[in-house]
Amino acid sequence: MARDGAVYVCQSCGAAQTKWAGQCPACRAWNTLVEEVQSRPPGALAPTKGAKARGLNFEGLGAETPAPPRIVTGVEEFDRVCGGGVVPGSAILVGGDPGVGKSTLLLQVVGSASRLGAACAYISGEEAIEQVRGRAQRMGLADAPVQLAAETSLRDILDGLKRSRFDLVVIDSIQTMWSDAHEAGPGSVTQVRAAAGELVRLAKKQGVAVILVGHVTKEGTIAGPRVIEHIVDAVLAFEGERGYPFRVLRGAKNRFGATDEIGVFEMGDVGLIEVKNPSALFLDTAGERAAGAAVFAGIEGSRPVLVEFQALVAPTAYGTPRRAVVGWDSGRLAMVLAVLEARCGISLGNRDVYLNVAGGLRISEPAADLAAAAALVSSALDVALPQDCVVFGEVSLSGDVRPVSRMDSRLKEAAKLGFKRALAPSGGEDGPLKLTSVVRLTDAVRRIGEADWS
Ligand code: TYD
Ligand code: MG
Repeated sequence: MARDGAVYVCQSCGAAQTKWAGQCPACRAWNTLVEEVQSRPPGALAPTKGAKARGLNFEGLGAETPAPPRIVTGVEEFDRVCGGGVVPGSAILVGGDPGVGKSTLLLQVVGSASRLGAACAYISGEEAIEQVRGRAQRMGLADAPVQLAAETSLRDILDGLKRSRFDLVVIDSIQTMWSDAHEAGPGSVTQVRAAAGELVRLAKKQGVAVILVGHVTKEGTIAGPRVIEHIVDAVLAFEGERGYPFRVLRGAKNRFGATDEIGVFEMGDVGLIEVKNPSALFLDTAGERAAGAAVFAGIEGSRPVLVEFQALVAPTAYGTPRRAVVGWDSGRLAMVLAVLEARCGISLGNRDVYLNVAGGLRISEPAADLAAAAALVSSALDVALPQDCVVFGEVSLSGDVRPVSRMDSRLKEAAKLGFKRALAPSGGEDGPLKLTSVVRLTDAVRRIGEADWS
């Protein structure tokens, strides 16, 4: 008899047998069966008698593919970022800073989904049941039929999930899960990888959607979740600046939807409130717009968003000039400063420069270059831009202002919010807004300096 886990594999045709024989029953070769101890992963197909590969079924690109079914959670901002709901059997990683609101968001997601009829479980490795329940009650989710558990042992979780039928399971967080098959401590890369691998396998096998929560700091000092990005179907980042109530859920990878979609929330006293129309949210509407402020007409995912760039150029008190930037890329700021110096003769090399994106939003579009440049120039020259003006355009190293995507949507949204003019790359037409087209950054600098908006 073969020992448990041992099989006899024909070295000629590869067929596996449970018993040794002198002749391979599959290919009739003699003396080719050799014992091999299979350490196959749980759930992998057992080698069956005479099993053979069956080749590939090639298909054309044009064939009809039915859209995957979706579990609609009812938290619309979350559903949209997922691509229209959660795909059954998929694995989603939700990463973000500790304290940004991941647990709050996902408790709301399962609460809402369970009210819509999905069987949902929320497994916390960080908080006791009473804590999670207390929070859910404060958030008005007391009556939602969510199954709660506090557990960190992967073996117990897998066993529990195999015995019950859930549609959607949240694991909060992947760093607290540990498998007794590995000696490394919880939160180590080995454990995170092993736990995520097992959970994703279970998701695929049982058709249950699994949402893994991962703590990731901006500096990437908690690197754990990065190692599992490639095994999950979607990676969503939950972002927000400390001190601001706004939270943005951003798709970083999505096998079932677009990746540039964002969901916007506001952290309130009773959980996260969805912001359905965020375009005016990040605008500082109170009071006059001072020198150093420029309103950027941006696009986040499928939606236009208007946001104020605020710059302050100040004399350096002593030593090296400071550059501080919140909500934008500091490398990009360095580039815009270099272009202003080299192509437009505006030297800020010996001055402190502060740049802030209002409201705590993070902007990564190249189209924001011109808005940042306009805010900097406006502050340096101490000339305010017109109140009713929006700005967008990409700035190249040569000092050109390049056209950007979806100019029409940007202009339309700005018009809707009461703006009358736009400082923009050439190529657009006067429509709802009066366009001040600029081809080079020097044109923009001149217009701001001379307050020439004809
Ligand atoms: P949490 O979801 O626990 O963060 P994470 O799971 O990402 O670590 O959110 C914690 C923060 O959210 C905490 O500072 C308190 C705040 N919060 C509110 O402001 N309002 C609320 O209704 C809740 C539940 C939390
Ligand atoms: Mg948490």
